[in-house]
Amino acid sequence: MKIAVVGAGFVGLSNTILLAQHNKVVIYDIVPAKVDLINSRKSPFVDKEIEAFFI
Ligand SMILES: NC(=O)c1ccc[n+]([C@@H]2O[C@H](COP(=O)([O-])OP(=O)(O)OC[C@H]3O[C@@H](n4cnc5c(N)ncnc54)[C@H](O)[C@@H]3O)[C@@H](O)[C@H]2O)c1
Repeated sequence: MKIAVVGAGFVGLSNTILLAQHNKVVIYDIVPAKVDLINSRKSPFVDKEIEAFFI
């Protein structure tokens, strides 16, 4: 399934990572710095599981 998530805050990014285990997911945000971090596989906030997913 292809899924789009709007908003890469704690709710959007956490759910995106869960959904991405079995789906193609694209996440959108209006904050360019946040998008750059995610594209660099870095979490925009401190979260052990999200950081582990990006490794
Ligand atoms: N965090 C919680 O426990 C919780 C619980 C219940 C409901 N909610 C609701 O869920 C939503 C998200 O919560 P959160 O904690 O992740 O918030 P957040 O502020 O951490 O994240 C929201 C993200 O959406 C982005 N955004 C804002 N407008 C946008 C737009 N037009 N297009 C794309 N991205 C946009 C922001 O830049 C931000 O990164 C909020 O409406 C919140 O009220 C949160």
